[in-house]
Amino acid sequence: MQKITIEPVTRIEGHAKVTIHLNDEGKVERAFFHVNEWRGFEKFSEGRPFFEMVQITPRICGICPVSHHLASAKACDRVAGVEPPRTAKLLRELMHMGQFIQSHSMHFFELAGPDLLLGFDADPAIRNVVGIVQANPDLALKAVRLRGFGQDIIKRLGGKRVHPVFAVPGGVNAPLSVKDRDAILSQVDEMTEVIKTGIAIGKQWYEANMDLVNQFAVFPSSYMGLVDEEGGLQLYEGKVRLVDKDGRKLEEFDAQDYLTYIGEHVEDWSYLKFPFYRKMGWPNGTYRVGPLGRLNAATKINTPMANEEFKVWKSINGGKPVEGTLWFHYARLIEDLYAMERVREILEDPDILSTDIVADSTGFVGQGVGCVEAPRGTLFHHYQTDANGMLTKVNLIVATGHNNWAMSKSVEMVAKAFVDGTKLTEGMLNRVEAAIRAHDPCLSCSTHAVGAMPIVIEMYGPDGALVHRLTRD
Ligand code: MG
Ligand code: NI
Repeated sequence: MQKITIEPVTRIEGHAKVTIHLNDEGKVERAFFHVNEWRGFEKFSEGRPFFEMVQITPRICGICPVSHHLASAKACDRVAGVEPPRTAKLLRELMHMGQFIQSHSMHFFELAGPDLLLGFDADPAIRNVVGIVQANPDLALKAVRLRGFGQDIIKRLGGKRVHPVFAVPGGVNAPLSVKDRDAILSQVDEMTEVIKTGIAIGKQWYEANMDLVNQFAVFPSSYMGLVDEEGGLQLYEGKVRLVDKDGRKLEEFDAQDYLTYIGEHVEDWSYLKFPFYRKMGWPNGTYRVGPLGRLNAATKINTPMANEEFKVWKSINGGKPVEGTLWFHYARLIEDLYAMERVREILEDPDILSTDIVADSTGFVGQGVGCVEAPRGTLFHHYQTDANGMLTKVNLIVATGHNNWAMSKSVEMVAKAFVDGTKLTEGMLNRVEAAIRAHDPCLSCSTHAVGAMPIVIEMYGPDGALVHRLTRD
């Protein structure tokens, strides 16, 4: 069997490797997505005071620090036995929406955009944000402003761009000023239009590329995401809903009980575990999270513009879950629009300027789970402490972990469909990378390693010898 490895996969965050194994005819026999690094963050946290986690865990990742900050704060609320005031929850959610807008906008316009707007076979020298700027400078500029708008929300609340200092056990550390509220609100109309432009571009692209979309890692799975009591999409707080491949509800549970429902399978070729739904077992209980998982799990979206797009989403596969991996991009844009609409709703809430932003403990609990929807998917932080509040056990399950199986499956399907070892092109390998990129994995988070590192692709021949190695700067 020959083998091809893709390392580093560009335009994703973190360190990982793809290996492609060829048979005697030069066709793809197997392909694997490996996540290599392991920093042991969970072990490293033991013995520390639980409340430090709110500031430590954002340092796992420069890409999604806000998600860790908020999941950690929610876990600490539980450990401390405190329910944050309504305004504190709204302000945390506002920061979270800032991160969604920043992350989703960057993904669509800068990470996935080059493939969609310039083509999978475009010259890699320009198949990046530079190429987007050349092809459509006006769009590129708007995209940069949209991403900056999301960052600005985080900065106004958290004081720093990379590692926010805002949430504390029981609430947040500063109220919102009228000046900041008005400054953010004044940009919402303009930024909404940029997202709508993205959606229009996306729709055109799908119409023109339906054959590719239908051949590109389309497969059934279950789906997970947070929802409210009516099944409406939630990103900060809700019940965890799991639906099956036909969209039927399997479970809707409180995140505190996640261990009852979620198991973690281990494979010797990957350090990253493979979460699955316990009642269906491994591998039948595998599911997808992130934009595709959330929109397949939800019944509706509670904001008007995003819900109109959600109706279109539901029509893609006749009301059943959407299975194609390239549909992640459309789902991401719909969520981007929802996040923008939520920013306005939150800022127009009569409670938003209240200074009642931290509550007191009603009794130390010493144990708790914090769960949010990170841009990439469901994120769990689970802390256990001794009577002095020192951590005795920490478990994190990150989005890229939940999607680990789906990324491996997508890589194999796309490699088999598009890679020919006898006449290999760079564009073929770029499609394999795109299968991973569609999930927007954060490998910094999933490896709990610090800093973003790239991926590599390696191809091996039938005798096991390395025949091709693709790395990028
Ligand atoms: Mg873990
Ligand atoms: Ni991350």
